[in-house]
Amino acid sequence: MKIIMLGAPGAGKGTQAKMIADRYGIPHVSTGDIFRANIKNGTKLGMEAKQYMDKGLLVPDELTVKILLDRVAEEDCRNGYVLDGFPRTIPQAEVLDEALAGLGEKIDYAIDVEVPDENIVKRMGGRRACLSCGATYHIEHVPPKKEGVCDVCGQELVLRDDDKPETVRNRLKVYHEQTQPLIEFYQAKGVLKSVDGTMDMKDVFAAIEKILEA
Ligand code: AP5
Ligand code: MG
Repeated sequence: MKIIMLGAPGAGKGTQAKMIADRYGIPHVSTGDIFRANIKNGTKLGMEAKQYMDKGLLVPDELTVKILLDRVAEEDCRNGYVLDGFPRTIPQAEVLDEALAGLGEKIDYAIDVEVPDENIVKRMGGRRACLSCGATYHIEHVPPKKEGVCDVCGQELVLRDDDKPETVRNRLKVYHEQTQPLIEFYQAKGVLKSVDGTMDMKDVFAAIEKILEA
């Protein structure tokens, strides 16, 4: 099963992608997590990506596409995966489609998690992230067991550099301009499904399960 998560920054793509990955035993592949791990480790890719991410801009397709294609070519992706944060532009979607077509494969579902912009800025200020393992928390909705410490790996939780309100607004602008057109792209392919992302996260997941098990 190959799934793409669509939706604005903060819509809950990562939250739902992790739940899907656990439920169906497929890897959760997040380009944002890959970039953040590279930034944390001080790699050349990380240094380059950070310049764009901190401004709320997209990392150029040349840097993004290769790391994603390399990742999904790994052994653990053989039975499928859930992509979170990729594709984010029509050219990225086209490259992915071509690469899959070359293998006789295709995307099974593109799930759009719908949340209005007004809700997003509020959510982001409360998010805390683990830069080591990618786990995500929310100070009100999903607090960690111990404040400031990741339940999964014990590392420190941080407010992401790009979660400042002005950067969030820029990310939303970039989303509407460059990523939202993917909704039509996948609709035309007949694989688009939408869920209401303003519900409680368990209810969002129940709606996704219903789609995947229909
Ligand atoms: P990325 O890491 O993908 O960030 P994003 O798309 O902006 O999305 P977020 O991770 O901020 O939000 P999310 O939808 O995963 O929400 P979450 O589940 O955390 O990308 C970061 C940057 O990397 C980009 O800006 C770009 O620069 C670069 N990049 C990455 N991929 C790229 C690509 N393909 N091309 C070019 N550049 C790329 O939830 C948010 C918060 O809300 C959490 O605190 C969560 O606990 C809470 N929450 C979730 N669901 C609910 C709910 N139902 N109710 C209440 N709270 C909820
Ligand atoms: Mg995310």
